Amino acid sequence: MKTIVVTGGTDGIGKGLGLYYLGRGDRVVAVGSNPDKGRRFLAEARAIGSGERAEYIQADLSLVAENRRVVAHIAESYPVVDALVLAARYYRSTRYETAEGIEHNFALFYLSRYLFSRGLADQMEAGERPVILDLAGPGGDLLAMNWDDLQFARDYRPDQIMMQCGKLSDLAGVGFTAEHPGSRIHYVLAHPGLTATGFTGDYNEADAALAAGMHDRGQSVDAAVAMLRRHLDNPDPEPLSAYMQHTKIDVGGEPFDPAAARRLADITETVLSGSGQPA
Ligand SMILES: NC(=O)c1ccc[n+]([C@@H]2O[C@H](COP(=O)([O-])OP(=O)(O)OC[C@H]3O[C@@H](n4cnc5c(N)ncnc54)[C@H](OP(=O)(O)O)[C@@H]3O)[C@@H](O)[C@H]2O)c1
Repeated sequence: MKTIVVTGGTDGIGKGLGLYYLGRGDRVVAVGSNPDKGRRFLAEARAIGSGERAEYIQADLSLVAENRRVVAHIAESYPVVDALVLAARYYRSTRYETAEGIEHNFALFYLSRYLFSRGLADQMEAGERPVILDLAGPGGDLLAMNWDDLQFARDYRPDQIMMQCGKLSDLAGVGFTAEHPGSRIHYVLAHPGLTATGFTGDYNEADAALAAGMHDRGQSVDAAVAMLRRHLDNPDPEPLSAYMQHTKIDVGGEPFDPAAARRLADITETVLSGSGQPA
């Protein structure tokens, strides 16, 4: 039985993957902020006879302190973590800063992924064939990095933020493999294609209409799960791989520049050291 941790595991693709692996006999720990969704996840797990192998952890992963609390709890509860699925997301039409003073997308889409992957690395090294599956949009141009204003304090543009989130994930993956030479962990960046999910977020009217259209055009969550599970079951042998749906992306190119990854890691450590305890 494998242990699979899913951030954003109570809705959309994260929940679909969680229920699939529960159905297959694995243990799944799903993290999300809305307790109603957590209760529904647990009820669905019970309905497929997997209730005793499902855990829900309620946490607001846009807060660094909450990430640290949950990572510590998981590390203490599970000496072996076989897979970590990074799927938490929340769309915001207008800029919002968390109580810790960090822009919400930067905190939830990026810092949470950074803290979970680094924080559970030891438990993952103990897994049989450990995988980190980061759901984003790999391979975009590094020009999407708003280096002078990563938290978009000056000119908040949700579309640009979304593109930057993809880059932050790419560079987090590059940084992870550089920081863990010889690691057994496979880091996979994957875009499953447009999928009809919860599209969790706080939308203005125009963005809500766009999201509704995307929902109508999206593939089913089951189709996304069918596409993604091979990365968890049988990851490519290299430490870092990236996929745009079924198409493999070269991670040796400019979008995955190691110098950019180091630059981001330095900035990240500075941000984290300013929010509670050091990383
Ligand atoms: N859907 C697509 O077309 C698509 C395409 C490419 C990539 N992706 C990527 O795939 C991943 C999953 O996307 P999705 O569309 O399946 O998402 P979704 O249905 O909107 O679900 C988002 C998940 O994130 C959780 N979440 C949101 N805010 C949170 C917070 N503050 N703390 C903890 N958890 C929080 C939500 O739970 P709560 O509401 O309970 O907090 C939910 O479980 C994302 O990384 C997304 O970027 C999606």
